[in-house]
Amino acid sequence: MDELTQNGKDAIQIGSEKFVPFLTQDQIQKRIQELAKELCDEYRTKLPIFIGILNGSFMFLSDLMKEIDIHCEIDFFKLSSYGDEKISSGKVKLLKELNADISDRHIVIVEDIVDSGLSMKYIEELISSHNPASMKVVTLLLKPASLKYKVKIDYIGFEIPDKFVLGYGLDYAQKYRNLRSIYVLSE
Ligand code: IMP
Ligand code: MG
Repeated sequence: MDELTQNGKDAIQIGSEKFVPFLTQDQIQKRIQELAKELCDEYRTKLPIFIGILNGSFMFLSDLMKEIDIHCEIDFFKLSSYGDEKISSGKVKLLKELNADISDRHIVIVEDIVDSGLSMKYIEELISSHNPASMKVVTLLLKPASLKYKVKIDYIGFEIPDKFVLGYGLDYAQKYRNLRSIYVLSE
């Protein structure tokens, strides 16, 4: 198997497709610190539950939590992914339910990327049906040009062009999630 480089500088060749460095580890971590500060200011007295959407958000949630210096709880949803494709199947399936009772709680949904918005719309409806006290969304990445569903995103790490990205939790056919930085498909 080919080696995976963590230097963040080399392009990654996957078959005939080339991915080039897009967001560095430093850029990501700096933005996470800013987002964490805003979240702490808003939720200081509210004991929020941060709900990560698996698998993609595991790295973002983990780094975000390390910057959160207020009391909070953490839980997870797992949704079906794109499969091994770069294009969404257009269907969402719930693979893991929450363990926490979220009624009357302040919920912060943590997502890696909002693309069409289909997954987020599904999650927002699901969480609303449990009657939380409040619900906000933080996503590391948003592709504004790809949005097809009306979703309310409260905190955005980076707005990015409508191009496939990988690394830092985001996969391509389940691989490359463990990269510390984010790469974009070069055309
Ligand atoms: P949506 O339902 O179309 O908004 O897609 C959301 C999910 O698709 C995200 O949570 C990701 O897991 C995945 N996804 C969307 N765009 C990308 C991408 O550029 N790279 C990797 N995964 C992506
Ligand atoms: Mg995801």
